[in-house]
Amino acid sequence: METMKANVFRGAGKFQIEETEKPRARANEAVIRVTLTTICGTDLHIVRGEYPVREGLIIGHEPVGVIEELGEGVAGYAIGDRVLVGAITPCGCCRGCLSGQWSQCGHGAGYEALGGWRFGNTINGAQAEYLLVPNAQANLAKIPDELTDEQVVLLADIASTGFAGAESGGVKIGDSVVVFAQGPIGLCAGVGARLMGASLVIGVDGDASRLAMAKRMGVDVVLNYKEQDVLAEIKKLTGGGADVAIESLGTQETFENSLRSLRPGGTLSSLGVYSGKLQIPYDAFAAGIGDYRIATTLCPGGKERMRRLMEMVRSGRVDLSPLLTHRFALDDIREAYELFGERRDGVMKVAIKP
Ligand SMILES: NC(=O)c1ccc[n+]([C@@H]2O[C@H](COP(=O)([O-])OP(=O)(O)OC[C@H]3O[C@@H](n4cnc5c(N)ncnc54)[C@H](O)[C@@H]3O)[C@@H](O)[C@H]2O)c1
Ligand SMILES: [Zn+2]
Ligand SMILES: [Zn+2]
Repeated sequence: METMKANVFRGAGKFQIEETEKPRARANEAVIRVTLTTICGTDLHIVRGEYPVREGLIIGHEPVGVIEELGEGVAGYAIGDRVLVGAITPCGCCRGCLSGQWSQCGHGAGYEALGGWRFGNTINGAQAEYLLVPNAQANLAKIPDELTDEQVVLLADIASTGFAGAESGGVKIGDSVVVFAQGPIGLCAGVGARLMGASLVIGVDGDASRLAMAKRMGVDVVLNYKEQDVLAEIKKLTGGGADVAIESLGTQETFENSLRSLRPGGTLSSLGVYSGKLQIPYDAFAAGIGDYRIATTLCPGGKERMRRLMEMVRSGRVDLSPLLTHRFALDDIREAYELFGERRDGVMKVAIKP
């Protein structure tokens, strides 16, 4: 048996680098040698035991790598090709996928909520030396030669998710958009809103270093919720309420504030992962007849999404490099989790090199 190093989940609060079996590709699968990956806020939920996955699972869902092995039926690729694989790996064949709901992939049948999210959730993930890619034909996106691993690694999840927040919100040219929370997801949502044509992007957070990063990434106005009445300020800046509010945290408070910051008929585009109960106060919702729209989005994946995002980087429309603030070897991943989890030292995203 050939082995590899991987970051294995061993129950709430427990994870470590272990020597595990190196995967082999069967039909419609590929194995990639991971050359770069990162840690997602969702991985923090997993290692803390807040989002359940099985013990023994390899964590991580943001892979860049080189094709090591191709299973039967995977055509148009060669061993050694550099590829980006989305965090979400749709099968491309089920009712969900063929209806355009890739992320809710039904695994060959109808629909399954979150069914497209496999890596580090239902199958082994990317914080490892090698990664088995399912439905490889639909999910291996070749990386243009002129792009480095670091330029594309954040496209797998956070950029795809953040941009989708603006897309699902239906941002139009001239719209005012407010983004609640300026973590990696919210920052990418702000970038997405600008790309979609917003004339005003407002970023809300309570952390000075994140607000500074928001400015650097092109947010027009930043508001600190710890120091200001952000709702009053948003009403003033937008002439009565934003056209679109993008929720990028996943709490009752930010959901409610997003709703309250909208003009009547505005759209709340929600990206956060919630837990427990979420309530909609009738006054914020105009008793249900304010023509509000609420959209929720799971990160879009698949090779065509990744190709499009890489083209945005290649053409210079998007530069996410400021968000990659720290670098670690796979062996030192615990240190990376600690830094990222405690949001120390201005960390935004960490690059992990197997
Ligand atoms: N929809 C998806 O497909 C998808 C994909 C990845 C992550 N997520 C989720 O997106 C959320 C954000 O992820 P992240 O990595 O950017 O998170 P993060 O923890 O890095 O950032 C959260 C930010 O929220 C700020 N914040 C805290 N309370 C606030 C408040 N009341 N108002 C405004 N800002 C506040 C914090 O200061 C911090 O900067 C998480 O719930 C994560 O699970 C969703
Ligand atoms: Zn993620
Ligand atoms: Zn599918």
